[in-house]
Amino acid sequence: MPLLPRIALLALFVAACSMEDAPVADRDADALYGTYCKSCHGGDGRGSMGLGSSFAGVAKHWNEEKLLTYIADPEAYAAKDPRLGTRPMAPISGDVPPEARKKIVQHTLSLMD
Ligand code: HEC
Repeated sequence: MPLLPRIALLALFVAACSMEDAPVADRDADALYGTYCKSCHGGDGRGSMGLGSSFAGVAKHWNEEKLLTYIADPEAYAAKDPRLGTRPMAPISGDVPPEARKKIVQHTLSLMD
């Protein structure tokens, strides 16, 4: 292959690689919340299209530890909390590392009042 097309191919390859998402643990809290929670709870935590609930007025029920437990297994947590359990929430994927879960939880708590 002549040199020029080879360089063009290489440039394309490099561009494609740098467009890849950052590893999950390196993403910032807002991006992580955007990926895993926003579709149902909205960017402002006030619910989205009737899918997830609003976080208005629920701050007193949550802290970091409770929320980490909840997102790992919402069904088990909801079974012990009479406020929850009306609609199912899916557990967060096992692929999401602890560091990233912590960031998601801190961001979520910041949207509650
Ligand atoms: C597919 C939609 C969906 C996604 C995605 C989702 N949720 Fe939920 N969430 C729900 C529903 C539905 C409920 C109500 C659950 C119930 O009644 O048991 C809920 C409830 C909650 C509550 C309880 C609020 C209260 O009333 O005290 C919290 C906190 C919460 N979600 C956090 C999160 C976080 C954090 C994420 C991202 C990791 C997330 N949710 C992703 C649908 C979703």
